[in-house]
Amino acid sequence: MEPKYHKVVIYYFSGTGNAKNTAFWVGDEAKRQGAETKIINIAKIQNKEIAPPSENTLIGFISPTHGFHFPEIVRRFLIGFPEVKNCDAFLMNTRAGLRIGNLFLPGLSGVSHYWSSMVLKRKGFKIVGLFPVDLPSNWLSFHPAVRKRGIGLIYRNVEPKVRRFAVKIINGKTSYRALYDIVQDALIAPVAVLYILFGRYFLAKSFIASSDCDMCGLCEKSCPVQAIKQVDHRMFWTIKCESCMKCMNDCPKRAIETAHGFMFIGSLIISSIVTYLIDQILTLAPFVDFQILGMEYAKSILITILFFPIFFMGYRAMHWLMRFGLFERIFVFSSRTKYRFWGRYKAPNRRKNAIRP
Ligand SMILES: Cc1cc2nc3c(=O)[nH]c(=O)nc-3n(C[C@H](O)[C@H](O)[C@H](O)COP(=O)(O)O)c2cc1C
Repeated sequence: MEPKYHKVVIYYFSGTGNAKNTAFWVGDEAKRQGAETKIINIAKIQNKEIAPPSENTLIGFISPTHGFHFPEIVRRFLIGFPEVKNCDAFLMNTRAGLRIGNLFLPGLSGVSHYWSSMVLKRKGFKIVGLFPVDLPSNWLSFHPAVRKRGIGLIYRNVEPKVRRFAVKIINGKTSYRALYDIVQDALIAPVAVLYILFGRYFLAKSFIASSDCDMCGLCEKSCPVQAIKQVDHRMFWTIKCESCMKCMNDCPKRAIETAHGFMFIGSLIISSIVTYLIDQILTLAPFVDFQILGMEYAKSILITILFFPIFFMGYRAMHWLMRFGLFERIFVFSSRTKYRFWGRYKAPNRRKNAIRP
């Protein structure tokens, strides 16, 4: 049978390899169905390099979910994508799948599919597929790595589903599996906004390089958003960081940690200082009473806004202090990622048998 699409182009972004595997499975099926197939890493291409796709082309966008949305690099890529005529597109988000015994639990997509579909529709695309892909969570700032057996079981459960979805849409059918989650996605949507406004920047400033770092520069070179640089002979994470976890999981010396001690104790100290300062300022201006003005929430917003510049300065101070052995040990050993049991996550290479596009 003649395939509906002569060409399938898949754009993907991936921190630790789940989305990359997904892109290759879809590419594999596209090739098998006889379509010319291209797989392109979003981190390695500029929007201006993209020619508007020709007719009978199917375009796919595949990315991990970060804070119940697509990461900023993907959002920018979608916004900057050229306008199209008569072109179909599909979206897939890899997310944190969980296995408890024989039960496979889904992650949370949040607003990723809805926002991206709106952007693509405005570009002239017809959306033919929306599919969430529940692969192991790579969010090691919050939990230890999924064990090897669990990773294998989750992968074995998910790969056939992705391939079936791919065959379906490449043959001209539609599938909107992501919409089954609309209720929990709507409930979690406000958190997606908070993640974009604050959470992302907080997490960007959570990474440190311990004294095990030999300055090989691998993290700096391979960071997909060029967020890591050397400051005072130590790796430093700028606010461009998307917390994709590539650096932490790729480091050959296992020298990159999440500074939990700094994040929790530092935040507590900084927010207490900020609250105290605001209260002191308000005693000097008693006419500004948020309660009387009916703006009780305004003080919390003010605290949050002031918190961030001080938190960033705190991160810089921690970076400076880490040149002294004692402080370096305190920051490193108050990190849970330091301990062996926490492990690291890297998606298994499930592309070995894939047909190369
Ligand atoms: C910063 C960050 C935020 C995340 N947010 C979510 C989320 O909102 N929902 C979810 O289900 N998984 C979330 N995850 C898990 C990843 O989306 C998931 O593990 C994904 O498969 C990783 O893909 P990759 O290996 O291609 O980077 C998050 C992971 C990170 C590192």
